[in-house]
Amino acid sequence: MAVQGAAINPLGEPHHHAVRLRGIFAYLNYHVPRTRREILEILLKGLLRLEYRGYDSAGVGIDGGNGKEWEVNARSIQLIKQSGKVKALDDELTKQQDMDMDVEFDVHLGIAHTRWATHGAPSPVNSHPQRSDKSNEFIVIHNGIITNYKDLQKFLESKGYEFESETDTETIAKLVKYMYDNRESEDLSFATLVERVTQQLEGAFVLVFKSVHYPGEAVGTRRGGPLLIGVKSDHKLSTDHIPILYRSCKLLVNCSLSDTCHTLFAEEKKSVEYYFASDASAVIEHTNRVIFLEDDDVAAVTAGRLTIHRIKRTAGDHPARAIQTLQMELQQIMKGNYSSFMQKEIFEQPESVVNTMRGRKRDMITDHIKEIQRCRRLILIACGTSYHAGVATRQVLEELTELPVMVELASDFLDRNTPVFRDDVCFFISQSGETADSLMALRYCKERGALTVGVTNTVGSSISRETDCGVHINAGPEIGVASTKAYTSQFVALIMFALLMCDDRISMQPRRREIIQGLRVLPDLIKEVLSLDDEIQRLAAELYQQKSVLIMGRGYHYATCLEGALKIKEITYMHSEGILAGELKHGPLALVDKLMPVIMIIMRDHTYTKCQNALQQVVARAGRPIVICDKDDYETAKSSSRTIKVPHCVDCLQGILSVIPLQLLSFHLAVLRGFDVDCPRNLAKSVTVE
Ligand code: G6P
Repeated sequence: MAVQGAAINPLGEPHHHAVRLRGIFAYLNYHVPRTRREILEILLKGLLRLEYRGYDSAGVGIDGGNGKEWEVNARSIQLIKQSGKVKALDDELTKQQDMDMDVEFDVHLGIAHTRWATHGAPSPVNSHPQRSDKSNEFIVIHNGIITNYKDLQKFLESKGYEFESETDTETIAKLVKYMYDNRESEDLSFATLVERVTQQLEGAFVLVFKSVHYPGEAVGTRRGGPLLIGVKSDHKLSTDHIPILYRSCKLLVNCSLSDTCHTLFAEEKKSVEYYFASDASAVIEHTNRVIFLEDDDVAAVTAGRLTIHRIKRTAGDHPARAIQTLQMELQQIMKGNYSSFMQKEIFEQPESVVNTMRGRKRDMITDHIKEIQRCRRLILIACGTSYHAGVATRQVLEELTELPVMVELASDFLDRNTPVFRDDVCFFISQSGETADSLMALRYCKERGALTVGVTNTVGSSISRETDCGVHINAGPEIGVASTKAYTSQFVALIMFALLMCDDRISMQPRRREIIQGLRVLPDLIKEVLSLDDEIQRLAAELYQQKSVLIMGRGYHYATCLEGALKIKEITYMHSEGILAGELKHGPLALVDKLMPVIMIIMRDHTYTKCQNALQQVVARAGRPIVICDKDDYETAKSSSRTIKVPHCVDCLQGILSVIPLQLLSFHLAVLRGFDVDCPRNLAKSVTVE
């Protein structure tokens, strides 16, 4: 069997900052008539698709006029912003007396944003879009942090600009107006203007601009965060890539109108719609044709034509951006019949692990395998659940590669200035591919000359782009903040890597065959575990009022204990601790009494006898553990009051079957405790700040 993780590092140059993934969504209709009501519906729906990332306020900016001509209506901009959920923004919109919802726009740009406060508390005035002045000449939405905003603000204040919000973003809106007011010629394009602004900005940003001075035009740019543009048209696109226009190009002024420059359509005036978004899930219901921007690209839509600009060409630059076809289906990101995304994602695991095994055709990790085989050490680096995937597979990696394997939490790895060498291979495991600590650790390892491998679920993410090679785990979009299917897919991907590492080792063949057979039956065994859902729900009903749950195990299942406890903490807010059963006597046993809920994982592998000992110790302290065990293990069933019986699989894959009952348990506990399963308090899906 060949390992078929996909290569995910085809493009890009690295970028140097990371931004928080809040929601950016913009919609431009060009000769596609839309009423204001329709436009707002599209904008709010876009924001709802991005909701899962977590936010505390939302806002939109649209054209303000109520006349018949769109050009006239575009001479004023209306901002509507509110703290709280998108629903609160929607309510605010219905209160707007002076906006005629039925007025039709032949051409229009609307921009929308969900914010997570960094500079200034959640409030309408701190929400985006931010504006240049009281008459809203320029407005902007922003993800990221501008680190030199104080200096810029001081400068702009000295020029008479008055600031109204506490945000760093407002300086961008003011700066663009300053640059516009001080332009040297009348035909300065919107793209060039924005380019000038971004040259003054330090930090990280994804931006989309709208202006009364450039009616029906949009400009978006990024540095250190994702931005993509969806294109929808009934007309055939004349190209499958957009060439980059460099500032040095003499045609740049009004280039977007020039026939000599390549654009999407052969003729002008074709009706077309564009969607700018920080995340594909907001675009996919409209179109699957998208362009992912690179750092410092400035994308502009002028007269319905999209052009991409860069200031200068540097060696290694790709001279065009491909129009890609997204494979994601809308139903993949919708909840279907499930009450939450997390529940849906738990139940998707029989398929998602298969998708991980099936992988994609392009597989750069196989190109690097010889080099990896020559290394002296493997280091797995990650945060949160992804770290647990490393803990879970460490043993089998050690066994099949016969290399020392370190598993590291990215933040601690960096804190320690861990020595890394050229003959190390460093794995970065990250569902999102954007986690700041993991990304920093990646750059740290690259600087030291190690070969870097990404294990991510997000094509085009920072980690996938900056690693030398990688595996795309292909689990499909994961929307619930608490990671479930990504964990089991990371687990499978790492096992498959271990198999690849030893595929020419004769002595390893029997073991390899055993594991490959395990992978074949895994989807059915996962289904069998999922059929325990009702039983686990009943267990949750007994436990949900407790304050604390201890989860004990060892060997292959230590990771399950850590991951199960993390799931419980994340979404139920109960205290939970994953305890290595081998450490029981060194402290945790003191916690055990007849009241403390204890879950133990005991499987029939090489730690079985030791786990039985641990069980006896807990029982001897009057504990009444709930044991997750092999369904044929009558011995364990005898000595415990309560068991959850899971099917048997090869030892190194059994951790996938032992974690699923805990995923289900945490889900039911959270529901019974009345919490929002998909958006736990204080947590975000993607933590892109250190
Ligand atoms: C956040 C999420 C966790 C996730 C961790 C690492 O804390 O809430 O679910 O495990 O980040 O994320 P990554 O995308 O790097 O796997």
